[in-house]
Amino acid sequence: MAIQAHFKPRPSDILLLTSPKSGTTWLKALSFATLHRHSFSLSDHPFLTNTPHQCVPFLERFFSHRTIPNLNVLPSPTIFATHLPFSLLPQRALRCRIVFLWRDPKDTFVSLCHFLDRWMGSSAEHTSTTQGLDLSKAFQMFSQGTSAFGPFWDHVLGYWTESLRSPEMVLFFRYEEMIEDAVSHLRRLAQFMGCPFSMEEERDGVVDDIVQLCSFDNLREVEVNKDNKGSFEEKRPPASSFFRKGKVGDWVNYLSMEMAEKLDAITKEKLHGSGLTF
Ligand code: A3P
Repeated sequence: MAIQAHFKPRPSDILLLTSPKSGTTWLKALSFATLHRHSFSLSDHPFLTNTPHQCVPFLERFFSHRTIPNLNVLPSPTIFATHLPFSLLPQRALRCRIVFLWRDPKDTFVSLCHFLDRWMGSSAEHTSTTQGLDLSKAFQMFSQGTSAFGPFWDHVLGYWTESLRSPEMVLFFRYEEMIEDAVSHLRRLAQFMGCPFSMEEERDGVVDDIVQLCSFDNLREVEVNKDNKGSFEEKRPPASSFFRKGKVGDWVNYLSMEMAEKLDAITKEKLHGSGLTF
């Protein structure tokens, strides 16, 4: 409600939109490193001492202290991130550019279970039913649309529809495609954010450097991202819980064929006629 009433982004600001566990951390890293590439060298980069979530905080964080933040004092453009569904995003936010990232719901769901399980203090790494989180119960809820920030498919379709209406304002990415070709996605991201790579930068390998800096293998090894401390009560997940495997298709190790077919069928049905292919 506070965001709806008081979030007034400037047209220059950039909004990163994702469902939880779709690759938000990666998108934050790539966009921050790209936008601020002229301010830092690789040897003194903020990512050496800050998590991507510290560099690009969630919008919700700004509004969580019962005071209305003055976001105008932030540098322009500022990158904000949020998981808000389209239906809850204030209309004013549509004046700034939105990057939406989604991911195969099977991997999103598996990633979410591990994340919550880690955060709540137990590990679902090797079993499908753990003390902390019952995978089949969680699966039932996810497939019925009971998810934080609303049903997964509504979340995707809300922003997909807006991207069709305003393609110049909404950039639509998919995690699996980014994994396949991070370089060309980064070029599109830079272009979209209004800071395209120059010929010199291309020649000097700046695009590859940013992809490498933000890669799963690189970020996971940075000390600040290895931190295991967190608190469920204080809504602080451990930094390390954002870096699990970073792979496509890991669902195969946790979901039965029946579960996978069920999620695929829901996805096909929900996306049918939208023009969004799966
Ligand atoms: P897995 O749990 O499948 O490994 P989010 O950032 O939205 O919370 O999503 C977390 C997922 O993104 C996790 O997926 C995590 O490992 C993966 N991830 C984090 N950083 C990444 C990176 N730099 N490159 C690719 N995937 C990354």
